[in-house]
Parts: sequence; structure tokens; C-alpha cells
Amino acid sequence: MAQTGPLPRFTAIVVAAGKGLRVGGEIPKQFRNWRGQPLLRHSVERLLDHGADHIIIAIPQGADDVARAALGAHDAVTFVTGGATRQQSVLHALEALAERGPSYVLIHDAARPDLPRAVTHGLIDALAAGNQGAIPVLPVVDSLAVDENGMMGASPDRDILRRVQTPQAFVYADILAAHRAWTGAPNAGDDAQVLAANGGAVALVDGHERLKKITFAEDLMDNSTQPAFRIGQGFDVHKLVEGEELWLCGIQLDHTHGLAGHSDADVALHAITDAVLGAIGDGDIGTHFPPSDPQWKGARSGQFLEHAAKLVAQAGYRIGNIDLTIICEAPKIGPHRPAMRSEVARLTGMDESAISIKATTTERLGFTGRGEGIAAQAIASVERLA
Ligand code: CTP
Ligand code: MG
Repeated sequence: MAQTGPLPRFTAIVVAAGKGLRVGGEIPKQFRNWRGQPLLRHSVERLLDHGADHIIIAIPQGADDVARAALGAHDAVTFVTGGATRQQSVLHALEALAERGPSYVLIHDAARPDLPRAVTHGLIDALAAGNQGAIPVLPVVDSLAVDENGMMGASPDRDILRRVQTPQAFVYADILAAHRAWTGAPNAGDDAQVLAANGGAVALVDGHERLKKITFAEDLMDNSTQPAFRIGQGFDVHKLVEGEELWLCGIQLDHTHGLAGHSDADVALHAITDAVLGAIGDGDIGTHFPPSDPQWKGARSGQFLEHAAKLVAQAGYRIGNIDLTIICEAPKIGPHRPAMRSEVARLTGMDESAISIKATTTERLGFTGRGEGIAAQAIASVERLA
């Protein structure tokens, strides 16, 4: 799923101004936890991860505090008050974007937390190909029947029908005009219908079963099919050369030699990051931060681990513990262990007590023994969130 070229920029709207009556409970569903964090936060963080440059969130009147608490700190986010219907909530958010005047806008339900990157990319690609709108759809697999007062009426042909999801992607000016002109039912089915009613054309792209909308109380507790614990391991080597900085676990060490590599070559953080990604089965460091991509040249490796920790949360897990072994003859790791431990704790949001940093030599044998490079290996466990 690695994107080949840079994705065109887009802005997103997340509608989170509903009451969540069908889920019930004291607070609306978009602020309730699913896989360990509020629905709204999942939806917003996915869109930011997938490249949204800004997000407007429609929230219920007076819900600023609860929304902010649900979301955590995010710079690229603005709240607007939603309306009585979803269509009005979208219109308020579109109007709030007028000054920014984005080219593309993605409109997404807060109630669909598990947005795969491939769907976002498919939508943006469809706009870049010249479509005014694009929506993710899935086939209908069950046969269909029209209910006529409890009796079976006509049987619509499922092969021509599609289930429609969000996010839905649009050329901003077109969807704004369509929502302003909307005179249909107060509760428009979705934004694509609003665009189509105004004469717009909408392309269909592949949706995903994971994008299911949280609608009923039981949808909120569906983490049980995943394993409760998983473990992953990571291994990395970088070459020691003169004239390079030496970074280990996000700490710069004074040494005659430093590690060479595309990023800051922090071999220890690379091993930990791969262990964390391995535990959730989500590729490796190169999948997420390709060395061919110039933006990672000289990059601080801490951001790789921070990203991996975020992916763990999105997968519905938290990191249980990390155990790292650094393999080198010099420098001595012991004196730096407390600083390294606290930096790994900061990057992952973990307690230091769950982070172990060990070091060993190879008795002057092999490339580590000759001081030609440093190797690191790590194990990470993850625990499923309730
Ligand atoms: N929504 C909104 N403004 C409204 C109504 C709905 O922003 N006036 C948002 C919801 O917060 C949700 C999305 O639209 O993210 C999809 O709506 P739905 O799943 O129907 O959510 P609710 O309307 O909140 O739930 P219910 O219909 O069960 O009350
Ligand atoms: Mg509703």
C-alpha cells in the first residue's frame, strides 16, 4: 500500500454532532471508547495520518470540553457547532472552511473509527483523476427483499446495488454549492446524494468492511476477536564510522565514531520500532518510512517509534513491555541507561519500569567485536485494550 508519489493535499470534515440515540448511554457515542480510545479520536487521527492538512469537526452545541478531552491535543483541528441533522452539520463545517478554500475535502463520520489508508488514497486518487466526487462502496452479499407490512414484496437485484460508506471525497467548491442548494429531505442520506442532486457526478471506489459504522451498543464492544497478547522482535545493524554522530535510544553519546545510515542511524530505536510493529503485524520500519524517501534523510528516529506506538493504539493494543539488547564493544552503555530508558518511555508513553535496556559485547569477536558496527535486538509485547 506504499504510496508511490506524494498524495495531493486535502482537508477533512468529521461530523460528530449527533446524539448517538441508538447506542444510548450518558454521552454520545462519538466520545465513547472503542479499542481503548474515543471514536472521534480514532477517526481524526487516521485522517491526519493519511495526510489531511486540517480537520474541521462538527460537534454538538456546548460540547467543546468533552470533544477536546476525547481528542487530546491536536494542532490541525478546529471545532464548529453542528446542526439538527447530519446534512446541516456538514454544511456548517463546509462554510467554516470557506476562508481556507481547500481544493479537496473528505467528509467523514466520527462513528467510523477504523479507516484504512487504502480507502483514503483511493478516494483522493479518484479526485485527482478529475472526478467531482468519490465514495467508498461495498457489494451487497445477502439477497434483498422489500418489506410490505411484514410480507415479502419485490426482490431487488443485489448485483447492481452497493453499500455506501464514508469518508466521501469532493471537490470543495462543488460540494459546498450542492449543500447550499440542498432542498431535499432534512436528513439527506449522505453527501454524495447532495452532490448528485445538484448535478454532480460521483465515482465509486473500493470501501472496506473495517469501515463499518458504530451504530448499536454492541458495535462498541467488538475487540474480542483479537488475541489478548502478542509479541514482536526487531533486529538492526549500523556501521560505525568516523565523523558521524552516535545516537542510541534517542540520546546522543560522545564517542570516537558514530553510526552511518539514511536517518540518524539510531540502531537501538530501529530495533525497538521493528519489534513494536512486529507485535501488531504491521510491516517494518522500511514499510512506513522508506529509505528511498528523501524526507527521512537525517531524520530523528524517535518519530519512527512514536508513530509505531500510535499504530499500536489504533490497532486496539497498548505496549506491555520492551526488552532491548545493544551489542557493541564501545562505548559503555551502562552510564547512559537511565537517560535512554526515560527517552524510550517518553516516546512510547510507557512507564519506565516496563522498559529494559541491556548491553553486551561479543568478546571482541565478529564485526561488533572489531568495532565495525553496532547491532541491537529488541522484543516488545502488546496487550489488547478492553
Ligand atoms: N451527525 C452529526 N450531526 C447530526 C447528526 C449526526 O454530525 N445532527 C453525525 C454523527 O455524530 C455521526 C454521523 O453523523 O458521526 C453519522 O450519524 P449516525 O451514525 O446516525 O449518528 P447519530 O445520529 O449520532 O446516531 P443515532 O442516529 O443513533 O442517534
Ligand atoms: Mg443519526
